[in-house]
Amino acid sequence: MEKEILEERQGEILVQESVSKNTKKLFLESYGCQMNFSDSEIVASILNGEGYNTTTELEEADLILLNTCSIREKAEQTVRKRLSQFNAIKRKRPNLVIGVLGCMAERLKTKFLEEEHLVDLVVGPDAYRDLPNLLKNTDDGRNAINVILSKEETYADISPIRLGGNGVTAFVSITRGCDNMCTFCVVPFTRGRERSRDPHSILNECKELVSNGYKEITLLGQNIDSYLWYGGGPKKDFSKASELQKATAINFAQLLNMVAETCPEIRIRFSTSNPQDMHEEVLYVMAKHDNICKYIHLPVQSGSTSVLQRMNRQHTREEYIYLVDKIREIVPECAISHDIITGFCGETEEEHQETLSLMEYVKYDFGYMFAYSDRPGTLAHKKMKDDIPAEIKSRRLKEIISLQQRLSLERMKTYTNKVHEVLIEGTSKKSKDQWYGRISQNAVVVFTKTEGTKIGDFVKVAVHDCTSATLIGKIA
Ligand code: SAH
Ligand code: F3S
Repeated sequence: MEKEILEERQGEILVQESVSKNTKKLFLESYGCQMNFSDSEIVASILNGEGYNTTTELEEADLILLNTCSIREKAEQTVRKRLSQFNAIKRKRPNLVIGVLGCMAERLKTKFLEEEHLVDLVVGPDAYRDLPNLLKNTDDGRNAINVILSKEETYADISPIRLGGNGVTAFVSITRGCDNMCTFCVVPFTRGRERSRDPHSILNECKELVSNGYKEITLLGQNIDSYLWYGGGPKKDFSKASELQKATAINFAQLLNMVAETCPEIRIRFSTSNPQDMHEEVLYVMAKHDNICKYIHLPVQSGSTSVLQRMNRQHTREEYIYLVDKIREIVPECAISHDIITGFCGETEEEHQETLSLMEYVKYDFGYMFAYSDRPGTLAHKKMKDDIPAEIKSRRLKEIISLQQRLSLERMKTYTNKVHEVLIEGTSKKSKDQWYGRISQNAVVVFTKTEGTKIGDFVKVAVHDCTSATLIGKIA
């Protein structure tokens, strides 16, 4: 449920350190998944070379860019509202350029320019290198668009400008796109084919983060376990690779091991693990390294094999349970979270009950829960009927949310009366006298600040109390 807020949060505003030679101002707002926030840092880097520094002041912006999300209809509505606010500003300042980036740009393409008249610039997730050219068009008062998807682009050589962060935790993209074709999901259409990034550029980026004082890196990919790099290039057609290339290929477990060994002094997280591709090898790497956090985001979507089949998820309920059992066996202290969709096409009451019983079995720490939203272009939209009435979707959603709250509380209780290592990430929103940070299992802890402690410190915290969402402790 928090992901709803996270994913569709009111565009966090991203600002960078000013480069003094730059004269133009970019107002860049991001919606959606972590990958979008990571992409915005690439966009800021590209535009920094074109004379733009970012700003949080709309009034001084020369260029407004919205990095958008298409995953659910609600996410798109939020962006449309925001665009009409920007258009009100543009009416007073016609030279202002407004652009849409990311998944909505890719999904709606020219429709944005032709029908909606809301924007000057439309750029899909694989076309950010073209921004400087596209901006030349808009400078001349013309509209500009590039929504070409790429099979190669990973922006591997672009050093992202870290925006709006705490200087402690950072995202590093390791794959782009997705080849999975879950029937409900728009991502394969908006972000294109899956490709893996050169491991050397990943390691270099991680080392650079460490030397800049970062203490936690989250490796990102839509389906992180399908990461595969082999000798000659990215994973396009591995079956055609030479024997040597196959023998020297690097999979996710190996990459994770390399990152953990290269950066022993910081924490490593990763997301998202797709059950169908998660290998035991990854679990052994997690178990081996103290600096890999004991947390796996393992979306299940439904606890019913028949629904999973309609969703084109490549595993059954039983296979998912087998994987969870393996996690519990190999990494016993691991926290597991989920994504679940309620009210997918044809979901019966029995199928819904299977989701509830699976949740009870796994005892998830946490979860992101959504009512199914029919998305144009997806296979479900073309071939199935969105036939579960809104009130049933929302009743089922309420049921899984309240079950998750109970499970979260049970899991949080298991972390109390123990001492945990916590990375201090910032000042608690509720009290300026308290820090907040996370334990390895990703649960948030708040505790009173003590002298000498600062953001970016690893501290030992004795946890004595909790709610379903927060641990409460004291520096030990
Ligand atoms: N790559 C990730 C998911 C990306 S989308 C994975 O493999 O799981 C994030 C989550 O949004 C999904 O896991 C799913 O639970 C949810 N989602 C995707 N499409 C949706 C739709 N049409 N309606 C409701 N929720 C959706
Ligand atoms: Fe979407 Fe399934 Fe890929 S949820 S991002 S198509 S793994």
